[in-house]
Amino acid sequence: MTLPAGDKQTRWDALLAAVLADPTCRAHVRPGKKVVLGVGSLDAKIMFVGEAPGAEEEIQGEPFVGPAGQLLTKMIQGMGLARAEVYIGNIMNWRPQMPTVDGREQVGNRPPTEDEIRYCLPYLRAQIEVVNPELLVALGSSATQGLLGFKSFKALGDVRGLWHEFGGKPLMVTYHPSYILREPSNRKKRLIWEDLLKVMERAALPITDKQRGYFLER
Ligand code: URA
Repeated sequence: MTLPAGDKQTRWDALLAAVLADPTCRAHVRPGKKVVLGVGSLDAKIMFVGEAPGAEEEIQGEPFVGPAGQLLTKMIQGMGLARAEVYIGNIMNWRPQMPTVDGREQVGNRPPTEDEIRYCLPYLRAQIEVVNPELLVALGSSATQGLLGFKSFKALGDVRGLWHEFGGKPLMVTYHPSYILREPSNRKKRLIWEDLLKVMERAALPITDKQRGYFLER
């Protein structure tokens, strides 16, 4: 994917136009639904990478606006940042399709396949190139598979909480917010939070004692 010369906004606008016009992306969204590119500050220090648009995202054309997105937004605020200060992208630009009954709305989501991820990865690379964040945070298995490689880990628990690298950028791997939505517990919240504390340290964000102690009570 070759981006035009120019400032960040010009390059991002060109990228958005390319993604929205991509016949493969378009072929994967149902009528009335949207192809989704990332959102946020083009000067963000931190870029989050999620899996794929879900029901709400393919309607609004924006990543992480459904229940998992609301939780991600709270996590970002817990880091002392506003959602608009970071960049939020996905490894996929369309909602992975599942069969529907009699043309009704799709119920539920499935993880993207390796081929689907491979197809969309150049668009994520292009977003990283434009935004040029200091560091990346992969949320969940699909994003991690895309960024680290499909056979690079057995269980996400083996690679989360550790610094990796993608395209020359430090990459922190953590669980997807939906991991908490499925079964909210302070133990699980703390696991993600510890990974985010590492991100805050590396990004030189201020950390209060209160923030260090979030979710410690079980
Ligand atoms: N989950 C994701 O991984 N990405 C979204 O955009 C929404 C939910």
